[in-house]
Amino acid sequence: EIREPENESYNSYAPGTPEREELREEINRLKNQEIQIPAIIGGKEVKTDRQEDVVMPHNHSHKLGTVHLCGQKEVDMAIEAALEARKQWADMPWEERASIYLKAADLVTGPYRYTMNASTMLGQSKTPHQSEIEAVGEFADFLRFNAYYLQEIYEKQPYSPEGMWNRMEYRPLEGFVFAVTPFNFTAIAGNLPLAPALCGNVSLWKPATSSIYSSYFIMKVLKEAGMPDGVINFLPGSGADVGDPVIKSEHLSGLHFTGSTNTFQYLWKSIAENIEKYNTYPRIVGETGGKDFIFAHESADVDAVVIAAIRAAYEYQGQKCSAASRMYIPDSIWDEFRDKFLDEVKDVNYGDVEDFTNFMGAVIDQKAFDNITSYIDYVKESDDGEILYGGNYDDSEGYFVEPTLVLAHDPKFKTMEEEIFGPVLTVYVYEDEKFEETLELCDNTSPYALTGAIFAQERYALKKMADYLRQAAGNFYINDKPTAAIVNQQPFGGARKSGTNDKAGSAANLMRWISVRSIKETT
Ligand code: SER
Repeated sequence: EIREPENESYNSYAPGTPEREELREEINRLKNQEIQIPAIIGGKEVKTDRQEDVVMPHNHSHKLGTVHLCGQKEVDMAIEAALEARKQWADMPWEERASIYLKAADLVTGPYRYTMNASTMLGQSKTPHQSEIEAVGEFADFLRFNAYYLQEIYEKQPYSPEGMWNRMEYRPLEGFVFAVTPFNFTAIAGNLPLAPALCGNVSLWKPATSSIYSSYFIMKVLKEAGMPDGVINFLPGSGADVGDPVIKSEHLSGLHFTGSTNTFQYLWKSIAENIEKYNTYPRIVGETGGKDFIFAHESADVDAVVIAAIRAAYEYQGQKCSAASRMYIPDSIWDEFRDKFLDEVKDVNYGDVEDFTNFMGAVIDQKAFDNITSYIDYVKESDDGEILYGGNYDDSEGYFVEPTLVLAHDPKFKTMEEEIFGPVLTVYVYEDEKFEETLELCDNTSPYALTGAIFAQERYALKKMADYLRQAAGNFYINDKPTAAIVNQQPFGGARKSGTNDKAGSAANLMRWISVRSIKETT
């Protein structure tokens, strides 16, 4: 029996600690070698004839390696390898599958700890702390808690009146599951192919090429943990070259996706177009965009709002799906909020993550940099909004964007409405007496509903806010920042246009990858 796990604890990497030295050594080791990142199909490394450089976002002339990009040929090979592997994997007792996951968690928190952290720092420009909480902590939590949830699922059996024995057989889906993963969290990248595989499915995994470096180390951990060949097939490449051929396979039985709204909708439509071809109706689970909010009431603790805003808007350069990007502040506390915010944000350093003192690194790549800075330029030229702090950027060495605060004169200003996915927070100041009207506005301003946070000390106000904003966020925080959900504490997922809300790191998510056979036997 698997006992309920505890959340993994984090190293602080404070000056003078041995962990700090070990992490530094690992950073240097990784930086001073260039690696080949092949596809991994049926357990074999497959090199292809199309390659791309893998560089560091905070120093884009530094090459970490070369990634081999896949196409139709590799997809066909991967489908064959996956279906072959499925025969034994699906019939393996669940305890044995789970043991691979528990071993992988111990590798991630033990001998691979510094590799997972350093590869995420270098490849995705995360600070040591941000890498630790997710590439180590959250990833290990997903592995351990999912094994525990699976045990709970398998234990649940139906009632059997006298004369019969009823039972449920928890089978994986037929065919394979397609996992498409984002750049921003190593833990999520690993979890999307791994959660379905735990239930006995086989996966084709298309990792984001912009974070391929840490994803490749996940494959190394899995191999060492004893994951059989072909259960998870690693296919770097573009959506057109990898995604399109995968979606056309009759054996597709599920899509586990985190990424942009457009790509998710495109994949959903492609699945619909091919629906007659499939052997089964593919399960679709996705998490997409967000326009996450912080809403303060006049009774809010201003210091708490300031800290929450800075952390939620700027940690990991505002590239968490949960990052706060719009704010509503009542005019009675605006001056105090603004002064305290401007005082605090001065200390938010950005730059090279390897010096361990910066709060922020670089944004992921040129495309992200161009998109984020186009919003900053828009604000600079607009009469309906102004920059109160930041607004500078520079991509000459790395893709650096200064933490930026925008004041919107209009609550429907472009940066209040559109997802930016960068360190740009927009605030709208409302009149205290328009509290309820502004709550409605907050609810209607965005089609998304991923995360949101409310701040008040008066209970009646909290109740009103929670009621008005019932559908506005799949993860809702009261007097706390809207980021950093922890596995088994705040199951994570968005509603409305943010996703299918099949909470990551919960039994509900695992159930989507299971096809139950209900059996009645007379006795
Ligand atoms: N789970 C992450 C968080 O809560 C976002 O994907 O910040």
